[in-house]
Amino acid sequence: MACPKIVLYCLLVQLMFLCLVPEVAHGQGLKVGFYQKTCPNAEAIVKKVIGEVMSVAPGLSGPLLRMHFHDCFIRGCEGSILLNSPTHQAEKDAAPNQGLRGFQTIDRVKTALEKACPGIVSCADILAIVARDVVVATGGLSYNVETGRKDGNISRSSEALNNLIPPTANITTLKTGFARRGLNVKDLVVLSGGHTIGFSRCSAFSNRLYNFTGKGDPDPKLDSTYAARLKFQCKPNDVTTHVEMDPGSARTFDVKYFELIPKRRGLFTSDVALLDDSQTKAYIDLQIKTGGSTFFKDFGVSMVKMGRVGVLTGTAGEVRKVCSKVN
Ligand code: HEM
Repeated sequence: MACPKIVLYCLLVQLMFLCLVPEVAHGQGLKVGFYQKTCPNAEAIVKKVIGEVMSVAPGLSGPLLRMHFHDCFIRGCEGSILLNSPTHQAEKDAAPNQGLRGFQTIDRVKTALEKACPGIVSCADILAIVARDVVVATGGLSYNVETGRKDGNISRSSEALNNLIPPTANITTLKTGFARRGLNVKDLVVLSGGHTIGFSRCSAFSNRLYNFTGKGDPDPKLDSTYAARLKFQCKPNDVTTHVEMDPGSARTFDVKYFELIPKRRGLFTSDVALLDDSQTKAYIDLQIKTGGSTFFKDFGVSMVKMGRVGVLTGTAGEVRKVCSKVN
């Protein structure tokens, strides 16, 4: 049967569009239990290693969750955040990634998996499973992680700078940044809830304390008592100190992050900006009112969506033997 030319033309345009926008969430080729036949204990092995790591270094929960997010937002969830560059020009070398930690934990997980099932489990999948396991280890709800990602072999620091959303972002930038990856406004507010665990370097928010508009002034949207405490912890130009993002419960996955925001105690401009959209604000209000009635479950749903962004599956990409090096 002959196809009308216009239909063929539309299909071609759609195909070109899909090729041009590789970072949007699709996730074809991913499924829960991808390694069921090829490495049945894969997830149990990850869980065991993460349990061991958490028992001695619980502070790595934040960095390990964040690592999956940064992997997905730069070139998609394909493990490129883990690659080393001899000339220090990989994603991990970019300024916003300098605070990432936990690479050795990923190596440790990979070593255990290579011992059990050589060449089977990708580094990109390890990041996704580890992210879920640290959420659970800190008190969040478990969710099924889709697997089947392959590893990419390109990692450029310039792409990290262009693709990671800065902590100074306003609501428009945040929404656009998420939409570019096929993530909606709900995903934005839910996943921002990841800031319920972890620490931040002073440099990520010191402009709000010392020089908000370039005149040596503080951010008027920051609660003054909280600002005073932060100033005590972070002196101007402090490059070493880390502070809890969710003071008092930075190692517990809970709803406190949302409670802080309307109190003007969100740490970053990007956290406070969630009050500037009616949908994100309504979500925050609901979680506060209901003690996080949907947040815990929503987090898993949005993490699975984020885990589909720009994945390589099937014959695309490779399964790296060592996560920091291409094969
Ligand atoms: C919405 C846009 C986001 C912005 C602008 C942002 C920004 C930041 C910044 C500036 C830090 C401190 C980094 C440092 O000290 O070097 C941070 C930490 C963190 N972020 Fe985000 N983030 C965002 C979204 C997310 C998402 C989606 C997740 C995970 C689902 C996440 C999880 C974390 C975690 C767990 C930490 C603590 C890391 C640690 O303890 O070392 N963030 N974020």
